[in-house]
Amino acid sequence: MAPIDYIERIPNNVDLSENRRLLRALEDWQPKFLEWWHDMGPEGFQSRDVYLRTAVSVDAKGWAQFGYVKMPEYRWGIFLAEPEGDRRINFGDHQGQPAWQEVPGEYRGTLRRLIVTQGDTEPASVEQQRHLGRTCPSLYDLRNLFQVNVEEGRHLWAMVYLLDAHFGRDGREESEALLQRRSGDHDKPRILGAFNEKTPHWLSFFMFCFFTDRDGKYQLASLAESGFDPLSRTCRFMLTEEAHHMFVGESGVGRIVQRACELMREHRTDDVRKHGGIDLPTMQKYINFHCSVSLDLFGSEVSTNAANFYTAGLKGRFEETKKTDDHRLKDGTYPVIGLDGETIVTRREPALVSLNERLRDDYVADCQRGVSRWNEIIKSHGIDFTLTLPHRAFRRAIGAFADVRVSPDGRVISQAEWDARHRDWLPTEEDEAYVGSLMKPVTERGKMAAWIAPPARGVNGQAEDFEYVRLT
Ligand SMILES: [Fe+2]
Ligand SMILES: [Fe+2]
Repeated sequence: MAPIDYIERIPNNVDLSENRRLLRALEDWQPKFLEWWHDMGPEGFQSRDVYLRTAVSVDAKGWAQFGYVKMPEYRWGIFLAEPEGDRRINFGDHQGQPAWQEVPGEYRGTLRRLIVTQGDTEPASVEQQRHLGRTCPSLYDLRNLFQVNVEEGRHLWAMVYLLDAHFGRDGREESEALLQRRSGDHDKPRILGAFNEKTPHWLSFFMFCFFTDRDGKYQLASLAESGFDPLSRTCRFMLTEEAHHMFVGESGVGRIVQRACELMREHRTDDVRKHGGIDLPTMQKYINFHCSVSLDLFGSEVSTNAANFYTAGLKGRFEETKKTDDHRLKDGTYPVIGLDGETIVTRREPALVSLNERLRDDYVADCQRGVSRWNEIIKSHGIDFTLTLPHRAFRRAIGAFADVRVSPDGRVISQAEWDARHRDWLPTEEDEAYVGSLMKPVTERGKMAAWIAPPARGVNGQAEDFEYVRLT
């Protein structure tokens, strides 16, 4: 395995200098990426020193190094996890065959689509978050935002590497197109719905990192099982970085919840808005919104596409290799929820076409663990309130429930009841205006906006008043 080469213009551990054609393609793409970063990356702060981590190895222990970097000088590069000796395809019709090092011709189009769809989410989130720096609640949070942004930029590099290295001219065209679509743009939107939503303030940023980046984790984890080995190795290293994004989300929401609880106790009231906090019922509405948007990213409950990806050995289940069944799923069944008239029912569907729902199950269980930790914070303040995930049929735009109205507790309801109640379940314009009104920048060292508690500890063990972003 080559160590990460930082002497080259494009840091990498894939012996890029040995492959002239690929090197030229990526060197041609690099200035276009920087132009995109300049136009669509974080607004402002580009000439500031930011305390960022940079990958210096793909070894799980000690892979990153911390130091001040100006964002446009971040060393975006190509890092693949170590190859596994004699890796095999672990599922589907090709089970037991050696993992592919080159794209199998018959799956070329499908694989390209999978990579482009994943790749498209990476720059999309940077675009969605580009204005947040202006209203940061602290330097600590500002730095975390930028860390997430530069790493999403690197994830784009990861996918562009696969396209350029393995898909010839088509791949290079897709690499260009990844820089041309724009989140929320009518004419050239990003591919997936959740990545065209706005991230207008820090509450939605933290919720996005918790719910939507977690979808990313589950998609990457199932692509990490792929029989196409370069994709597997790329995704495995991306998952190492991804963990931080979900930490930012969970701890960010947790700190807002904590602050709300402190204000409730201090002022003996539920009306924490009067004291500049974000009340728990409002937090619940944002959970309902971001969870439902993210659930759609897993696709239809019953999906022949998902079955085909699996049978072809392109995309596995979460932790496929650790499972002990036959890894072919030709005769098994799986419980899937659907509609029977006005009732939500569970049916046994063939396991192969149920893979989206199975991945959604893994995702929901993971989300619930985070929500339970938020509830621990509430409980530790002696407050009687429980945050919950909405029912998975709530406010869905894709799949079996796209055409019905469902309450957060999972009842199919009439349009009239929806009209009467949806303001209790989802953020209203007033909620948005209130949360927006709190978004005043706090950039003094060690200071924190009043609506969020300080973090439990600093980045890389730094002190509370550490200068995470040098503004002077
Ligand atoms: Fe990412
Ligand atoms: Fe991420």
